[in-house]
Amino acid sequence: MGIKLIKWSVLYFVIGVGVGMYMSISHDFALKPVHAHVNLLGWTAMTLAGILYYLFPAAESSLLGKIHFWLHNIGLPVMMGALAAFVYGYEQAEPLIGIGATTMAAGVLLFAVNVWKNVKPSAKD
Ligand code: HEM
Repeated sequence: MGIKLIKWSVLYFVIGVGVGMYMSISHDFALKPVHAHVNLLGWTAMTLAGILYYLFPAAESSLLGKIHFWLHNIGLPVMMGALAAFVYGYEQAEPLIGIGATTMAAGVLLFAVNVWKNVKPSAKD
């Protein structure tokens, strides 16, 4: 899960930076919230979670880690796709923003439980 999160996070990084470049070149800043959230939730938060899982194998191998991975990676693209559609006037996309955000937030909650339960000093510390 740790390595997988890090590998997926760089995809979000490429997309987030790509949206940033698009906004800079076009001077169309409508996608600013998508850019910010793809970079922060997709790249920074996900890569940090990946490093944490890599450092703490008990958290990585826990079922909580696996469920967190999927909730994060299903919720975030749904939320971002719907948010992009919404800012360009597709108001019907609004419920999907909520569904994606709630899925993602549930993943974050499980991640927090996993860290509290399974991130501990190792026997050698
Ligand atoms: C080549 C890389 C990047 C480019 C070209 C870029 C470009 C931009 C642009 C054009 C804006 C809108 C500014 C405005 O409306 O005044 C913006 C906002 C923002 N960017 Fe980036 N960005 C890049 C990387 C990043 C990264 C790596 C992060 C976070 C890890 C990030 C986080 C944000 C945030 C949070 C905002 C919103 C700021 C606000 O609303 O005040 N950006 N970026």
